[in-house]
Amino acid sequence: MARTQVVIVGGGPSGLLLGQLLFKAGIEAVVLERKTREYVLGRIRAGVLERGLVGLMGEAGVDTRMKAEGFVHDGTQLAYDGDMFRVDFTAHTDATVMVYGQTEVTRDLYDARAATGGDTRFEVDNVVIHDADTDAPFVTFDQNGTAQRIDCDYIAGCDGFHGISRKTIPAFVRREYEKVYPFGWLGILSETPPVNHELIYANSDRGFALCSMRNAQLSRYYIQCDVDDHVGNWSDDAFWDELRRRIPAAAAETLVTGPSIEKSIAPLRSFVTEPMRWGRLFLCGDAAHIVPPTGAKGLNTAASDVHYLNQGLRQFYGDGDSRGLDTYSEKALARVWKTERFSWWFSNLMHHYPSQSDFDKKMQLAELAFLRDSPEAQAAMALNYVGLPY
Ligand code: FAD
Ligand code: PHB
Repeated sequence: MARTQVVIVGGGPSGLLLGQLLFKAGIEAVVLERKTREYVLGRIRAGVLERGLVGLMGEAGVDTRMKAEGFVHDGTQLAYDGDMFRVDFTAHTDATVMVYGQTEVTRDLYDARAATGGDTRFEVDNVVIHDADTDAPFVTFDQNGTAQRIDCDYIAGCDGFHGISRKTIPAFVRREYEKVYPFGWLGILSETPPVNHELIYANSDRGFALCSMRNAQLSRYYIQCDVDDHVGNWSDDAFWDELRRRIPAAAAETLVTGPSIEKSIAPLRSFVTEPMRWGRLFLCGDAAHIVPPTGAKGLNTAASDVHYLNQGLRQFYGDGDSRGLDTYSEKALARVWKTERFSWWFSNLMHHYPSQSDFDKKMQLAELAFLRDSPEAQAAMALNYVGLPY
């Protein structure tokens, strides 16, 4: 029978970052991932890293490539009603954000884990967490058709929204809060230069659009779509035509188009489960909460959970002090709810709602005009966008 200190369920960014931070503290962990490394790296998701995550990448010893290849952004553009204005992060905060893809973050973490000899099991099935509410928890799973068991002190549930960790917490203990938005985001990745050197978030009558990027030759664009739309309904040309109609004319004229190398639809959801700890099981990242991607907060909020859990585990293994672990759920949730609020606010501000009345539309435009004209409103947005302190 195998034994480790921490079993990490899920080898996405949360699980891998936690694994690397624990390794630095001399705490042993086994990562269990349902898919292959290539599959995890094939998922195109986040692109904007807050200062907190940038710092954690440094702490985990995996920031060399990010520092060399990532792009520091000190502002973002907001477009509406034919107008565009900038929110300057450094005018209102002492921070910036880093444009560096989640795929690259994950790749750097996998490479570091392999280099440090970390135990990662891919393609595991039927992961079950046992006795998390006792002093002797263990995890069972199947690997290559063989049943396995690992005994441990703690379990980190980093297995995303559809994972098994959250559901291990009995329903009578869990309280769930959810809002499902009546639209999705259709995203494409294309090997074309970004239309602008900063991100453009656009509110238009035809729906939201976002111009983002991964590097000087790789662009990421999104348009709001129907919640039940399908990728097959969108040729590349149809996507580019629709994007051009939703962004300011000056940007539409200079937009360089090309074949998409990835195209996918993501639903938009706000979700939080409380508490984030049950006995010796701790939830991190999308396993515990989801935000609509408008504020670029999902991966970043996963990172702040990882920070609090890493602190708690270090305190416990360092000097037997369990206070960090005992307050994990409260501390993580206090920050989670603030990022939920920001993501909800920014989503409401920028999207076209099917049931939107003319009055609702006027309210959006008035709020955008207020944001454009008020340094105080811009400061509030900038503080949230660069990331609230841990
Ligand atoms: P996941 O990435 O979901 O990883 C969980 C892992 O657990 C997966 O590898 C999965 O295969 C594995 N797993 C699941 N079930 C099991 C099981 N039973 N056993 C073992 N393993 C299991 N966030 C930002 O901060 N900034 C952005 O700019 C941003 N943009 C986004 C754009 C889009 C289109 C989308 C969809 C998301 C975006 N996000 C963004 C959100 C971000 O991608 C997620 O919040 C992030 O991936 C969460 O990481 P995680 O490790 O918690 O979960
Ligand atoms: C992205 O580049 O994928 C991205 C950027 C900002 C967001 C969401 C997604 O708010």
